[in-house]
Parts: sequence; C-alpha cells; structure tokens
Amino acid sequence: IDELLAEGVGGKRVFVRADLNVPLDGTVITDDGRIRAVVPTVKALAEAGARVVVASHLGRPKGAPDPAFSLAPAAARLGELLGTDVEFATDTVGESARTTVAALTGGQVAVIENLRFNPGETSKDDAERGAFADQLAALADVYVGDGFGAVHRRHASVYDLPARLPHAAGYLIANEVTVLKKLTEDVQRPYVVVLGGAKVSDKLAVIDQLLGKADRILIGGGMAYTFLKAKGYEIGTSLVQEDQIPAVIEYIERAEKTGVELVLPVDTLVAPAFPDLKTKAPAHPTAVAADAIPADQLGLDIGPETRKLYTSKITDAATVFWNGPMGVFEHPDFAEGTKAVAQALVDSKAFTVVGGGDSAAAVRILGFDEAAFGHISTGGGASLEYLEGKTLPGLAALED
Ligand code: 3PG
Repeated sequence: IDELLAEGVGGKRVFVRADLNVPLDGTVITDDGRIRAVVPTVKALAEAGARVVVASHLGRPKGAPDPAFSLAPAAARLGELLGTDVEFATDTVGESARTTVAALTGGQVAVIENLRFNPGETSKDDAERGAFADQLAALADVYVGDGFGAVHRRHASVYDLPARLPHAAGYLIANEVTVLKKLTEDVQRPYVVVLGGAKVSDKLAVIDQLLGKADRILIGGGMAYTFLKAKGYEIGTSLVQEDQIPAVIEYIERAEKTGVELVLPVDTLVAPAFPDLKTKAPAHPTAVAADAIPADQLGLDIGPETRKLYTSKITDAATVFWNGPMGVFEHPDFAEGTKAVAQALVDSKAFTVVGGGDSAAAVRILGFDEAAFGHISTGGGASLEYLEGKTLPGLAALED
C-alpha cells in the first residue's frame, strides 16, 4: 500500500476488501476488533484523497439480501472510528452502490452492502464469480486487499477481483503475514500451541503440520472430547466427531513417536445440559476427572486441574500460538478455562499469537488488554490455513 500511496491515489476509486465479519447481537456489534483493524488502511487512503469503497462479507447469508446480515451496523461503527461520515450503499453492485460511489469525493468513504448477498461472490463456478467480479471492478480503479480473515476463500472479491485491477496489500494483511511467517519460518522454542473450539475436523490439518513443528500441543474446547473418546474414555453426552476418531488416534500415536508432547485435559467441567447463553442462568457445573465423565453429563470447559496444568505448560514457552476457546466461554460458568489460558499467555514472556475470530473475540469479551498479547490475528480459518502451509487465494492474488 505504501507504494500505491507514493504513486498517488488522489481522486481514484479504491476498493478495500476488508473483513468486517463481526459478531452481532441483533444490530449491536459485540466485538469490533475486525473493524478497528482495517482503520489504518482506510484512513491512509482517505487522507491521501482517495474515494474509498469498503466491501466485506458478514456471516453466511444464502446469496440473497437478508437484513439479519446487513453491514449497516459495521459501516456506522467504521464511521465512528474514523471520526467521519461513512456513506452506505444498500446493495453491492446495483443502483445504490453505483450512485453512492459516483457521488464520493476525494477523502470520502463508502461501505457497500454485504458481498454475500450476491450468489456470484461465493460461487464455485468460475464464470459466475468472474461476472460478479466484473461488476465490482466497474466500481473502482484500484484494489487493496485487507480482509485477512477471508484470504483463504476463493471468492470473487478476494480472488477474482484483484486480477481485474491494479492491486496492493493493505497494512493489516502485511502485518498478519509478517507475524505468521515468524511462526512458520523462524520460530523460537519451546513452541507451544493451544488448540480449542468445537470441531476437531477444523483442526486436523493444522495438527498434522504442527506435529512436525511444535514442541507441545495442548488440546481443549469441544474438540477435546473426541480425543478423550479416542483414548477409550467414556465422555457422556459430550460433543464428539466419531468419524474423526481414527485420525485422532493416528495423531496421538505420531505425537508419541516424534516426541511432541500432546497434552489432553485431565479434568473437565460437566453439566446435564448445554447452558442457556441468553439468560446465562446458573448451570451448576461439577468438575470430574477426564476419564470419569458421567453418562448423562456433557463436558463444557476444561477443569481446575487442567487449568493449572496448561498454565504450567505455557509458562516456559518462547512462542505460543493459541486458536480456539477452551470451553463455552460465553457463559460465565464455563469461561474459566479460556480465561486461564489467556492469563497464562499474558503472564508468559513468550511471543504470543492469538489466532481465530472466536479466541480473539474471547480475550476482548473477557476483558483482557489486547496490548498484553504479541499479536491478535483477525483471521480464524485464514491463520490456521496459513500455518498449514496452504496457498491462500487472497494472498496469491495480491502477490502476482
Ligand atoms: C471468519 O470469520 O473466519 C472470516 O470472516 C471468514 O468467514 P467465513 O468462514 O464465513 O468464510
């Protein structure tokens, strides 16, 4: 982007592909981290006199307008953060977008409506995606990719559009790549990875890669119960992905052979039912050993012994990468595991990277100071796929 700014963008229509996919409670943004992350790029372009067109997806609407997924709240928040009025187009490439962009003067910013309201954005069909990219290209003279959270998606605005316009990477993408490169090319040891979240299937590829790179992998969250089941434990009614058990068994064996410490919970908090996240009514959890989960209970967080164990496993690290909450942190009865891991990262002297929409949101929602972490990535799937060593369509499109 610095080269682009040096060339001059005054009066040019610059399309900024951001990731404004923020968590919403109705129309209230519960974590604006991703919006704040794109501000430096938008600000620099606006200050240089560009006519800035910001675009993003939000959630997973079904290729048609859906008010529940409108970007209007995100556009309003961007305006507050920039301290200026931000125009909002109520469609993506229709009349509203065309007239809004045409009316922009140098230094003004507009947000267009959710890109996924158009089926061309996510289409698997190259021609359909290309046709949508053509329509988006008609709105701009230059493309700036800064939606790091979406670079793993081969979508029209991420992959096809940069091929149609002069393009550059924004500050956010440049910074994310610099940090994640450190973890893949020049990692300081001991390198400890903490993985959580609901589904083990989302994490298998990254575990596969990390078994050759990390010194220690700590497992928590919903995915831990598939590991416990793979070890032959009874897990009651806890979340499990039966079809992933053979892969998990293979990883447990491979970790033993390669000397990677694969650490599983030794205890867990259980309750008879999933807690009510709306009322946050007390769920009365009990702590039980990981191999003694009662048949009628489900695991919802790591237990107190595991909190101590994981803290001790993080303390001496030189590098920590953490992706995925340790439990259902949205409910106060099951937030302690995630808090303990976040606190261990804060207290350690290691270079700490929090990756993932959920874990990044968790540390902010639980009240931690972002500045206490080395880096909080805006990418969930994107940061994982980067660590898996995959070619990310949105980065490849910018490099060419
Ligand atoms: C994310 O939340 O990880 C990104 O915004 C990508 O969203 P997606 O998984 O719906 O493509």
